[in-house]
Amino acid sequence: MSGAREQFGSRIGFILAAAGSAVGIGNLVGFPVGAAKNGGGAFLVMYAIFVFAICLPVMLAEMSVGRTARKDPLGAYRKLSNDSTRWKTAGWLSIVTPFMIAVFYLIITIWIFGYLFEAATGNLAALANPETFGTFINSPAVFAYMAAVLGIVYLILQGGVKQGIEKAAKLLMPALFIMLLVLVVFVLFQDNAMAGVKFYLIPDVSKITASVVNGALSQAFFSLSLGMGIMITYGSYIDSRADVPGSAKLVALTDTAVAFTAGLMILPAIFSFNPETNPAELSESSIGMIFSYLPQIFLALQSGIGYVGASIVATAFFLLVFFAAITSLVSIFEVPVAALMEEKCIGRKPALLLLGVILVVLASFCAVSFGSNEFFTSFTSYAGQPKSFFDVIYDVFYDTILPLNGFLICVFVSYRWKRANFNAALDQGAPSYKGSLFERYVDWSVGTIIPAILLVIFANTVALKYF
Ligand code: PHE
Repeated sequence: MSGAREQFGSRIGFILAAAGSAVGIGNLVGFPVGAAKNGGGAFLVMYAIFVFAICLPVMLAEMSVGRTARKDPLGAYRKLSNDSTRWKTAGWLSIVTPFMIAVFYLIITIWIFGYLFEAATGNLAALANPETFGTFINSPAVFAYMAAVLGIVYLILQGGVKQGIEKAAKLLMPALFIMLLVLVVFVLFQDNAMAGVKFYLIPDVSKITASVVNGALSQAFFSLSLGMGIMITYGSYIDSRADVPGSAKLVALTDTAVAFTAGLMILPAIFSFNPETNPAELSESSIGMIFSYLPQIFLALQSGIGYVGASIVATAFFLLVFFAAITSLVSIFEVPVAALMEEKCIGRKPALLLLGVILVVLASFCAVSFGSNEFFTSFTSYAGQPKSFFDVIYDVFYDTILPLNGFLICVFVSYRWKRANFNAALDQGAPSYKGSLFERYVDWSVGTIIPAILLVIFANTVALKYF
């Protein structure tokens, strides 16, 4: 495309957009439940160490590659590797992966939107029925909600980086913080809330097993939106004088703070609204929590504040999760959109429409893969398990390729682009980073321990998942 490359208009705009990408379903539900069940405070400390010691350096690698190349991930790998064909695959992976993750993330966002709509229109009782979720995901209404969610994503992305992504983040993120705080305060003042806080936070080191450690690291990696080309793309929209390490630290801090705070909402709510809660029954999956378990918890509130009150609390909760999901969805869809615009020299709107059509087709295949269409429901099988189309996308792109992409960017930055260039790129605009202990740690770890860990996770997932 001709003309100057689009840019974020302000530092805070960039930080909110990147934090908007990072803060998602993983923070609001995945982290709190994972922490509560896997060692409480001990899990929290371990998670925070992973965020700052392993994920933050990867985020710096991605952002600095984007900002230096000023290109989409495919173009960035090409430019900084001087057109190496070897690195082309890494470039392709970092635009195909986000596109495919966008497909399944869209499906979940559609469900959230549907539940938001139902809660807001007085149907909380129906949502609380354990049968509802299974019927809902197979109903034609899903397609109407799909149209609505895509309409919102289109409206945001067609505005471009400054007028679209940044503006939406500046509106939605503060709203999200406020709603989260209001809900936390409300919940903490309910009877029995402290039982939930205790369950959430009391450290239990005996729960920390190898698989919990692995889970915490994957959760942190996913939560910071790494391995998806997002931070490369957003990085390419930052001013060359901006302080990248400082901004990245704030993004990581915000993400962790939201995850921690969400735990002060979810667990006390479960214990207080439903004092009979049996911790062993808390679902492992975020999806099960959001759509099957939490509506029942919200409905239980009606004995105290009435049906309307309970519906308002449920609506506020789904709106909060919806805001978090939409800013993440926007960030992930921007990656292939930016790549198509640049690689094929076409405008933003045609790129959005073209990729939007493919997204709708693939998302429709997912939407009918929960029983309504046999072909997509029993799409394939591996490790002796039948898998739907939705499962395959989730397993391959989300669970398997993300750590591989993380490994590739680390190796690329340290050994192809070279450490001196990486450090110099981060020093630019960040005088306090230059020469710091943190810089030395990032420089060392991105070339050694971090890719080694990510490669082990990748190999382990492949071995366990498909054979
Ligand atoms: N970081 C988001 C979360 O924690 C996940 C995500 C971001 C997923 C962007 C897809 C795209 O939920």
